[in-house]
Amino acid sequence: NRHLISAGDLTKDDALLILDTAEELARVSERSIKKLPTLRGRTVVNLFFEDSTRTRISFEAAAKRLSADVINFSAKGSSVSKGESLKDTALTLEAMGADAVVIRHGASGAPHRLANWVRGSVVNAGDGTHEHPTQALLDAFSMRRRLGGLEGRRVTIVGDVLHSRVARSNVLLLDTLGADVTLVAPPTLLPVSVGSWPCEVSYDLDAVLPKSDVVMMLRVQKERMNAAYFPSEREYSRRYGLDRDRFAKMPEDAIVMHPGPMNRGMEIAAEVADSARSTIVEQVANGVTIRMAVLYLLLGGESA
Ligand code: CP
Repeated sequence: NRHLISAGDLTKDDALLILDTAEELARVSERSIKKLPTLRGRTVVNLFFEDSTRTRISFEAAAKRLSADVINFSAKGSSVSKGESLKDTALTLEAMGADAVVIRHGASGAPHRLANWVRGSVVNAGDGTHEHPTQALLDAFSMRRRLGGLEGRRVTIVGDVLHSRVARSNVLLLDTLGADVTLVAPPTLLPVSVGSWPCEVSYDLDAVLPKSDVVMMLRVQKERMNAAYFPSEREYSRRYGLDRDRFAKMPEDAIVMHPGPMNRGMEIAAEVADSARSTIVEQVANGVTIRMAVLYLLLGGESA
């Protein structure tokens, strides 16, 4: 593949190649080799139309650790505010010689459209409520490192699935990798299409927790929320929040994940987020490694 737009486009072999390449790169960093010459002379553009902390910084760090030149573009402060279209923005970046464009956009499908306009590789860094494939890859990498493998593992994804590109990409990738996924959410925060997703659905978090190897909490996306399907923060937290009592219902070796940013005290209690069984900080570190693997495979190595 020349692009990475959907986790659903990855075969099991593609996904394992990315995870195994990331494992090799992690071993190289553990030997204190911080920078590799692999992408010297290549240009990676980070094209961000929506806010980001983790994804933008980790793509920048990943590209720099592979010695690529990096151009960071944020829609705020650019000619997008004067009405310039995505296509014209893309053609401008193309003229500057981008070998890869990493795009985050509020519109689902924007990376797919961009791929028709640029010669370089397009990497989806989150498009609307659609997909966030490198988040799913870093999550799978984090699970594999903690649990040793994904085949048959029971992964519970909890919360605002309706607005979550992270949930969709995780369901698709984890199914490909042989894990069993259960989504837990209030009925109003599930998409109508969920019946066709390769996973189970439950409304009862307390029943699912004791059978989970991984519990992934999703951020409640208040900025995309309509009051009609979100009754109250207190009620949500009471029924779907991972607090200390619920955490105690998980098996002893089960892990807690969250893609960030978190609403501490709402979908997850601070003490759970900060516990030794939480992988939240590891997920961020693993994000750099996974993004190095993706850029390496798209631009510098074998094709993924
Ligand atoms: N997990 C994630 O995508 O975080 P950012 O929005 O900070 O990039």
